[in-house]
Amino acid sequence: MPFNPSKLRSTTFNRMENLIARGKRVDAWAATRLSILEVDSTNTMYPVYADRAKGAYIWDADGNRYLDMIMGYGPVVLGHSDPRITDAVFKQLERGTCFSPLWSPRQVELTELLVEVIPGADMAYLLRTGSDATSAAVRLARIYTGRNKIAKWGYNGWHDWTAPRPAGVPKSVLADTLYFEYNDLTSLERLLASQGDQVACVIMMSYGLDEPDAGFLEEVRNTAHRYGVLFILDEMRSGFRISLGGAQEYFGVQADLATFSKAMANGYPISAVVGRADIMSQLGRTHMSSTFFGNAAEMSAALQTINILREEPIIQHLWTLGMQLQDGLRTIIADTGLPATVRGMPVSPFLSFEEDAPDKKLIFYKETLRRGVLFHPNHEWFMSAAHTMADIDMALSVSSLAAQRAMA
Ligand SMILES: Cc1ncc(COP(=O)(O)O)c(C=O)c1O
Repeated sequence: MPFNPSKLRSTTFNRMENLIARGKRVDAWAATRLSILEVDSTNTMYPVYADRAKGAYIWDADGNRYLDMIMGYGPVVLGHSDPRITDAVFKQLERGTCFSPLWSPRQVELTELLVEVIPGADMAYLLRTGSDATSAAVRLARIYTGRNKIAKWGYNGWHDWTAPRPAGVPKSVLADTLYFEYNDLTSLERLLASQGDQVACVIMMSYGLDEPDAGFLEEVRNTAHRYGVLFILDEMRSGFRISLGGAQEYFGVQADLATFSKAMANGYPISAVVGRADIMSQLGRTHMSSTFFGNAAEMSAALQTINILREEPIIQHLWTLGMQLQDGLRTIIADTGLPATVRGMPVSPFLSFEEDAPDKKLIFYKETLRRGVLFHPNHEWFMSAAHTMADIDMALSVSSLAAQRAMA
């Protein structure tokens, strides 16, 4: 069916409203989560529950279809429900998946593959979530250096040492986490000059909404090393997306340890810490294990996903789509005066609204939503191999209409 940007999505959400009411009674997350976008008088609800997803599209609990520009916050790099991954997982499930305390041969195959494709990876350790992996890397750095403090930038997960909000985290833990500014070497230098001898590692995302200044990541690494501090790159968003070997490969910077998850397995929960053998081999000195770290189904998903990313020009496709989207959005901003800036790397683009224009931001996202495009108002977007140029054209014509409404 040809796409018509002026056709609006349904405005009744019977099933979703019912699910929300039920969820709020028994699901602590549903009961306490801040809404992503408010409901307004035109009944534009940001979808809360999804029923299914296929390729680049997702259907909410009331059957409304959206072009998904979030893709699970980045993991779904091939597209939802890619049959090649589903097949690999099913095949493994038929043979069993939870073999603890025995390991699956997939574990050898996957760690071999990670060591092959990720620069500087002498060894890899497999876990379940991104927070598992960053916490493991920090623990290894603490063991290796015999120091407690951490210097960090960006989101690194929910565990105590990195929790974005302090409630429930002991003050003693909060005191061990120090923060520096992105693209501001002086802020790191200042921090390490005063406490460098207590800092175990610098851990950071390689980029967020802004690209690293030329040489910045390299300088962070060199500065850390000058103080005997390990350099850890958190590659959750960049890994298997900006390039097959992640930000280390793309920016030509070598970390001591790096952490991966998300796009590694097209939506299945698995993560990895990789890095220098002398640091990785400290693993035996601590207890770091889970009943589920050895699950073979997720490893099969990761093996299949990484091999597909290696064999097909998918990462190039993500770049091309992202650049097309960013260029189109820049044109819309120039044409309409929308108070927003196009940001992010092309593989994870975003539209940043000016702080004094919350009303225009709300209208823009409501209007795109009503026309069937699921952008995230407060987080980078992600595309997949399943998105086409026609999808991006559609997202742009919807954005153009939404921008005109916002500026009317
Ligand atoms: C850069 C980065 N690090 C760590 C994490 C934590 O991963 P998880 O949510 O799987 O625990 C995320 C998740 O969004 C992330 O984006």
